[in-house]
Amino acid sequence: MKKIIISMVAAITMCSAATADTIKIGVVGPFSGPFALQGKNFKAGIDAYIATHGAGKIGDNDIEIVYRDVPQADPAQSKALAQELVVKEGVQYLAGFYFTPDAMAVTPLLEQANVPLVVMNAATSAIITKSPLIIRTSFTTWQTSAPMAKVAKERGISKVITVVSDYGPGVDAENAFKTTFGAEGGTVVESIRMPLATNDFSPIMQRVKDSGAEAVFAFLPSGPTTLGFVKAYNENGLKQAGVQFLAPGDLTQESDLPALGDPAVGILTTFHYAVSHDSAENKAFVQAASKAIGNPAELSFPSVGAYDGMHVIYKMIEATGGTQDAQKAVDAVKGLAWESPRGPVQIDAQTRHITQNIYLREVAKHEDGTFYNKEIKTFEKQGDPGLAAVK
Ligand code: PHB
Repeated sequence: MKKIIISMVAAITMCSAATADTIKIGVVGPFSGPFALQGKNFKAGIDAYIATHGAGKIGDNDIEIVYRDVPQADPAQSKALAQELVVKEGVQYLAGFYFTPDAMAVTPLLEQANVPLVVMNAATSAIITKSPLIIRTSFTTWQTSAPMAKVAKERGISKVITVVSDYGPGVDAENAFKTTFGAEGGTVVESIRMPLATNDFSPIMQRVKDSGAEAVFAFLPSGPTTLGFVKAYNENGLKQAGVQFLAPGDLTQESDLPALGDPAVGILTTFHYAVSHDSAENKAFVQAASKAIGNPAELSFPSVGAYDGMHVIYKMIEATGGTQDAQKAVDAVKGLAWESPRGPVQIDAQTRHITQNIYLREVAKHEDGTFYNKEIKTFEKQGDPGLAAVK
């Protein structure tokens, strides 16, 4: 009897040792509904990283990804699912988060749960200031929008109207453009903030025409929203009326280009990643991510935020030997530099946000009739100017 009990205890101990070796990463994103393609890109980037870096093993540890679906910006649901991931699933890392309100909602949980958060998309500058346990591998709209103000001035534009979705990243994009354009000597003649749920853009296009601006600078979160907005620009005769379109690259994500078609050719955007980026790292990434997503035409920027987010998580796991120590994990990647599919990047040791090149791109057409974002200029090693603005 005694022998049986001892062997039962040994079996239980062995079991728990085996489970302790599996490190769980909880990923929250839009995996169903209108923004499902963006979540699908998170998964493609994660799968591509795992497939090309040890097939789910880091040393002796197994990696398991646990996905949770928040279809649209919904902070209460995001928080509840993150709590469930931490408490019931025992995840050691939280990652993903497409929309700013969803990321913001989980920041109060991190310290108590001893869990780092790796933001793979949400792009409002202030997110990172909400906890010392946050790292961001995507971009901020300050970071991607400020260079566009310089491009506008360089191209002889002096009067611009801004149109943004009325929430964190939209307000940041508007401020980034206004501040930078003003410093360059330009004037923002009017600023429109639209509710996030707006889907009829014709009245806005009329206001843009009536404003007398030479260009419209716009930000909306990528998805059906941006597709509808750019289509409305194309279909309301703004180009013909002499109003240029300027935006961060969220507005011309590659997966939307076939639906936007010829009228989008020539649209200028500034962004951290183009699927067409010409480098060996990006070729390897596009190959792996295309395999993961199934249809390469669906590839878009959230895949690279997720791929690089996994790189950071792998380095954190290596540095902590798989033990749960969130602060040690975060400290280990401060200053980490590597060659991303987007170009050279570094986690800024002070801000914990990614420093990266921002590229000016133009929507162009290949000879075979497919569309792409063509990189035509590089703003090197851009940090996040928005952090200075929120401090
Ligand atoms: C955000 O909510 O932070 C967000 C979402 C989609 C984008 C950019 C920012 O394309």
